[in-house]
Amino acid sequence: MNIPSPLIPASLQARDINFLFQIVLIISAIILLIVAGLVLYSAVRFRRRPGDPVPTQDFGNTKLEIAWTVIPLLIVTVMFFLSVRTMHAVDPPPLNRPPDVQVVAHQWWWEFSYPESGVITANELHIPIDKNLLFSVTSADVVHDFWVPQLARKIDAIPARKNFAWIAADQPGLYLGTCAEYCGVEHAWMRIRVVAQTPEEFSQWQKKQLAIPAKPTEPLAVTGYNVFMSRPCSSCHRIAGTPADKDIGPDLTHIGSRQTLAAGVFDNSPGNLEAWIADPQKFKPGCHMPDLQLEPAELTALTAYLEELQ
Ligand code: CUA
Repeated sequence: MNIPSPLIPASLQARDINFLFQIVLIISAIILLIVAGLVLYSAVRFRRRPGDPVPTQDFGNTKLEIAWTVIPLLIVTVMFFLSVRTMHAVDPPPLNRPPDVQVVAHQWWWEFSYPESGVITANELHIPIDKNLLFSVTSADVVHDFWVPQLARKIDAIPARKNFAWIAADQPGLYLGTCAEYCGVEHAWMRIRVVAQTPEEFSQWQKKQLAIPAKPTEPLAVTGYNVFMSRPCSSCHRIAGTPADKDIGPDLTHIGSRQTLAAGVFDNSPGNLEAWIADPQKFKPGCHMPDLQLEPAELTALTAYLEELQ
């Protein structure tokens, strides 16, 4: 899957923000050059030489003072209007309808749900291209911030409050994002992957996510299923079509189909999944996933079962 550079905007909204950033950067660079240049010039040109008399002392210069008040005022005014224009372009008011995507930030992972279809997933957001999607953002615990720089503005995730924003992508691809508000010890491991797909691919993905996984039949996976249901796994996670229906941790109904584990810590592979379950605190110290003290045979079986959940 191609990963475009994080610096290249891939939506109308991100292009607008990028344009504003570049204008402000250029204006700031020009000011820096002029000020630094004048300071350097004066330091050299008017330096004290042996035998120099005390220079003439000027007290007040009305013309100069007007100039250095008016010029910055003009610059700030231009930047103000450019900012307002960008804010207006990227932030159309949320329409009076349910959001396309609901984002709930948790310490330290993301829940993404699609109210219309009922799909619930974690850390990996799938979106159809060329569609401006309304998303609501909230938090289950502390303040987080949802940010995928190539696609959308930053938006805070605040407990007991819903913020709204828009997200879109021009072209299929993988877009990376992260939590952008310090939220505790594992803030760095709250990665977001946005998979932008053609509408056909997206609806296929959605169909697959809605399917209830078949009951395992292979003996190792059956053992894994029993481990999941009898051990504490099922008191935090949900797997559709099974008695596990808790939403404290990520929904695992289709965990096998995701690209990464633990909000970006690992690529999703059986070896990594087993290592993660065996000792979550080793890889993500402070996270809420406990070490379940499983026997090696139980771990292998559990991994086999979970990887089947495609
Ligand atoms: Cu969540 Cu930082």
